[in-house]
Amino acid sequence: MKGKILVTGGTGFIGSHTVVELQNAGYEVVIVDNLSNSNADVVDGIERITGIRPTFAHLDCNDMSGLKSLFEKEGPISGVIHFAASKAVGESVQKPMLYYRNNLVSLLNMMDLMAEFQVKGFVFSSSCTVYGEPDVNPVDENAPVKPALCPYGNTKQIAEEIIQDASVPGMPYNSIILRYFNPIGAHPSAEIGELPNGVPQNLLPFVTQTAMGIRSELSVFGDDYNTPDGSCIRDYINVVDLAKAHVKALDRMLEGKSAEPVEIFNLGTGNGVSVLELIRTFEKVTGVKVPYKIVGRRDGDIEKVWGAVDKANQILGWKAQETLEDTLATAWKWQLKLREQGLM
Ligand code: UD1
Repeated sequence: MKGKILVTGGTGFIGSHTVVELQNAGYEVVIVDNLSNSNADVVDGIERITGIRPTFAHLDCNDMSGLKSLFEKEGPISGVIHFAASKAVGESVQKPMLYYRNNLVSLLNMMDLMAEFQVKGFVFSSSCTVYGEPDVNPVDENAPVKPALCPYGNTKQIAEEIIQDASVPGMPYNSIILRYFNPIGAHPSAEIGELPNGVPQNLLPFVTQTAMGIRSELSVFGDDYNTPDGSCIRDYINVVDLAKAHVKALDRMLEGKSAEPVEIFNLGTGNGVSVLELIRTFEKVTGVKVPYKIVGRRDGDIEKVWGAVDKANQILGWKAQETLEDTLATAWKWQLKLREQGLM
């Protein structure tokens, strides 16, 4: 065993895939999740893939005394990966206080406990949302952080600043901030995947649910952008590839290889794909039609953003491996599995 890692939000979409990769790499995992946007059955899926059942604590990261008891009970924790956060852009505009409290109080609690319990490495989930509409694509880590367009985006910016400001001499831990582009897909086993509550806000779950007939039609938000086909461009990154980067980040810190107390890496493929291209590729890979209509632009959408990923390639030794085709096939396999289980 390489050491014990606390994974907050470990039953969520990216969290669960990361727990699998951590266990595959020999880490022992303790999941903390309040199940606000996930399901305890995910732990079974993780066990079916890896043969190892991670410890699961049903706990909210805003519950400082509960978290502290967990640190005491679990003994030495080498690293923390903090996924737990609320992430719906629209909801964050409606309920800003909920977002600031959920996303920032939990971070402060975790940082206090990491200092107290001598944790060595901290991985924080950030987002390419911090770049806003970038001046140049692909956007690299030195690009300016733009004013956030919603409270959710602002929590990511503020969290990054808190982590930077708190890295004063004497802190036991180094931090790595990972800026995700658009994570999609599912584990190839279809034992775990993305399970949004209610109507999906993100593109691919809406695509798979439409292909399944759960939604009658996908709305494509705008075809009049300054892009080759007029629809928005994003960098869609396979969730298993993304998960593997977290293991590399932890290894780096726990092996004492950090070049600075806080390092920042973009995690994407380096390629931009438009909404219409994604739909066409999905149809080609699955042979299933996705009925869609073009509607007006969505408020606050970025026209085009894709990542420069050379820093993660060179320093973390990580590179996205999976093709868009294979990734879309895993998302469809997962959707079929949900149907088979009567979950969708
Ligand atoms: C959004 C957030 C981002 C957040 C991420 C995770 C914005 C501007 N960004 O990313 O900060 O980290 O979600 O929750 O909201 N689309 C459609 N029809 C749909 C859904 C989406 O055409 O039904 C299009 C969007 O206009 C966009 C692309 O698909 O061009 C991707 O959308 P989405 O999956 O919501 O991700 P982002 O907007 O990139």
